[in-house]
Amino acid sequence: MYCSRWLPVVIQLLLWCSTAPVHGIPPRDPVQCNNTSCALYNSYGPWGDRKDCDVKTVAYPTTEEELRSAVAYANKNKLKLKVVSKFSHTIPKLACPPSQNSMLISTAKYDSRIDIDSANLAVTADAGVALRELIDKVEEAGLSLVAAPYWEGVSVAGMITTGAHGSSWWGNGGAAHDHVVGISMIVPANQSEGYAKVIQIGAQDQLLNAAKVSLGTLGVISKVKFSLEKGFKRSITYNFTDDGLIENNFMEHGKKYEFGDITWYPSKHTAVYRYDGRVPVDTPGDGVNDFLGFRSNEIPISQSVRTSEKLFESTKSVNGKCTLAATTLAYKKLIANGLKNNGMIFTGFPVVGRQGKMQTSGSCLYSPAARIDASCAWDPRIKGLFFYESTAIFTVPKFGDFIKDVRKLRDIKPENFCGIDHYNGIMIRYIKASSAYLGQPEDSVVIDFNYYRADDASTPRLNEDVMEEVEQMAFFKYGARPHWAKNRNLAFLNVRSKYPNFNKFIAAKKQLDPENMLSGEWSDEILFGTGNVTSDGCALEGLCICSEDRHCSPSKGYFCKPGLVYTEARVCRYSAPSSSNL
Ligand SMILES: Cc1cc2nc3c(=O)[nH]c(=O)nc-3n(C[C@H](O)[C@H](O)[C@H](O)COP(=O)(O)OP(=O)(O)OC[C@H]3O[C@@H](n4cnc5c(N)ncnc54)[C@H](O)[C@@H]3O)c2cc1C
Ligand SMILES: *[C@@H]1O[C@H](CO)[C@@H](O)[C@H](O)[C@H]1NC(C)=O
Ligand SMILES: *[C@@H]1O[C@H](CO)[C@@H](O)[C@H](O)[C@H]1NC(C)=O
Ligand SMILES: *[C@@H]1O[C@H](CO)[C@@H](O)[C@H](O)[C@H]1NC(C)=O
Ligand SMILES: *[C@@H]1O[C@H](CO)[C@@H](O)[C@H](O)[C@H]1NC(C)=O
Ligand SMILES: *[C@@H]1O[C@H](CO)[C@@H](O)[C@H](O)[C@H]1NC(C)=O
Repeated sequence: MYCSRWLPVVIQLLLWCSTAPVHGIPPRDPVQCNNTSCALYNSYGPWGDRKDCDVKTVAYPTTEEELRSAVAYANKNKLKLKVVSKFSHTIPKLACPPSQNSMLISTAKYDSRIDIDSANLAVTADAGVALRELIDKVEEAGLSLVAAPYWEGVSVAGMITTGAHGSSWWGNGGAAHDHVVGISMIVPANQSEGYAKVIQIGAQDQLLNAAKVSLGTLGVISKVKFSLEKGFKRSITYNFTDDGLIENNFMEHGKKYEFGDITWYPSKHTAVYRYDGRVPVDTPGDGVNDFLGFRSNEIPISQSVRTSEKLFESTKSVNGKCTLAATTLAYKKLIANGLKNNGMIFTGFPVVGRQGKMQTSGSCLYSPAARIDASCAWDPRIKGLFFYESTAIFTVPKFGDFIKDVRKLRDIKPENFCGIDHYNGIMIRYIKASSAYLGQPEDSVVIDFNYYRADDASTPRLNEDVMEEVEQMAFFKYGARPHWAKNRNLAFLNVRSKYPNFNKFIAAKKQLDPENMLSGEWSDEILFGTGNVTSDGCALEGLCICSEDRHCSPSKGYFCKPGLVYTEARVCRYSAPSSSNL
């Protein structure tokens, strides 16, 4: 609607917007089987290494007892075991079972029970329950779940076990697992106990610190109990402003607003401050946060955005990327990123609505049967968007210096950041210190940034060097911790040294899973950072840090060079052939 009035048609095609409310095809089942075998995919299609995850056996339990017997079957037959939800929205290959002697459990059908205990402000849900279903049930009972990721396409167990978070330094903080007060977990047991048993881990048990964030490697989560609060409302205002003082403002912003965040668009010298906090429940407003990036897009629009990105990549058109970035940002500003005052349209700030409608979104997940011409923009069946996601978690004292370094890199040539800004810029959120061994050991600030990924592994990206420098600065100069459910393999190098309680987690794992039934080569790459390869082109895919030109793409003019601001970084940089004197 706004689109057609305001923007030239050509530009509309480049935007993630459409002229009518759109619903669409739901994501495909992540487990795909043919007559001979099955494979597990993530929601984007290819894994980080672009190799398929082959699966021999998949079990679909519907009850806790069926889940327990599936674990018992694996243990009795000495099979390695992994679990995946109906979503498989985790980007690293964590849920992939080892290639030999293994099986997969899907919780797709273990998703029916949601038990609310209003008197004690708590809810207990089956591991496979979708976050949206949990939230809707809780809100119907007049209660609210305080923390959740911004994306609602996650299962209860998948969400907590990777440390998924929204944004908050208040109360128990913005990470879902920090609101967990109990877990039922199924662990291997001896023959006389039936090969697998259910253990109840309560709020006071030390073991909960290991079990909350465990990357699916400690035991199979059967049920999760969350603490709740009385239902509440929030009020959101976005301030699109200058990016000059992020390093001075971020602390105060996080302290002042319970659900604040900041999105930085470096190429546009713009920062968007989200003023977001609770208001009394009788405040008028029935707002909805329907974030633009998580809405259904008409398939031809997603495809044409991809086509134009590919064109700008192949012609090295920084300006083309900047046009995309500028129009996307202008549109986001116009529609307040997707906030709707009355559930239909944005009419002005502040937008006030119930917690259950404001914290998390993902309307591209749902499909009324009527429309089959729209989907999530990244659906691998449509050849739409395809991108990487880097997420780095900083200790507070280091974050300001990181921002200053990125600004220096930006100032060399702001246009180099257009590829990042076309996605969601650099999103800055807050995570509170956690008692989880693999959670954040102290109050932290987390950044996310997305960027183009080529259709094939050997094609470098435009401004590859800039994105790699920011990535290496974050993880190696400033020692940021990687989000367990995002990132490319290099981000996990040396990760165990970044978690002071890592060894306590390993000790708990030895106790519950002494035979390492729930480990495997793929989850080891993440948990232990063992995914360091040195193949040709490995740096293009984030599978290594380049140390030789062949790790980049010499044939396409990309060579391994030092960073421009962080000179210890080693990045793949394009140099025009020497005959050109530019
Ligand atoms: C578009 C998009 C937006 C996102 N936004 C955010 C965000 O705002 N904040 C954020 O923090 N994250 C975000 N994420 C990441 C997402 O929150 C995590 O990837 C989350 O773990 C996905 O949950 P899932 O149910 O799909 O897990 P899956 O991918 O199915 O599984 C994740 C892990 O959990 C394990 N697991 C699953 N079920 C069980 C079980 N029953 N027992 C034991 N282990 C189990 C798996 O083995 C695997 O290791 C986003 C991801 C996408 C794709
Ligand atoms: C797959 O299996 C079904 C049922 O057993 C059979 O009818 C079909 O012909 C098989 N398809 C292929 C390609 O083998
Ligand atoms: C069946 O699926 C496996 C795993 O995804 C794949 O390798 C194989 O080529 C498929 N076979 C057929 C006949 O499609
Ligand atoms: C099985 O485990 C139980 C509980 O840990 C223990 O009491 C019992 O001795 C074990 N039995 C065998 C045969 O190891
Ligand atoms: C937006 O931020 C700017 C700069 O920090 C400030 O001057 C202005 O008052 C803010 N606007 C609103 C509506 O809060
Ligand atoms: C990765 O492997 C290369 C080559 O073996 C080695 O030089 C480098 O130190 C390794 N990096 C890490 C962080 O282990």
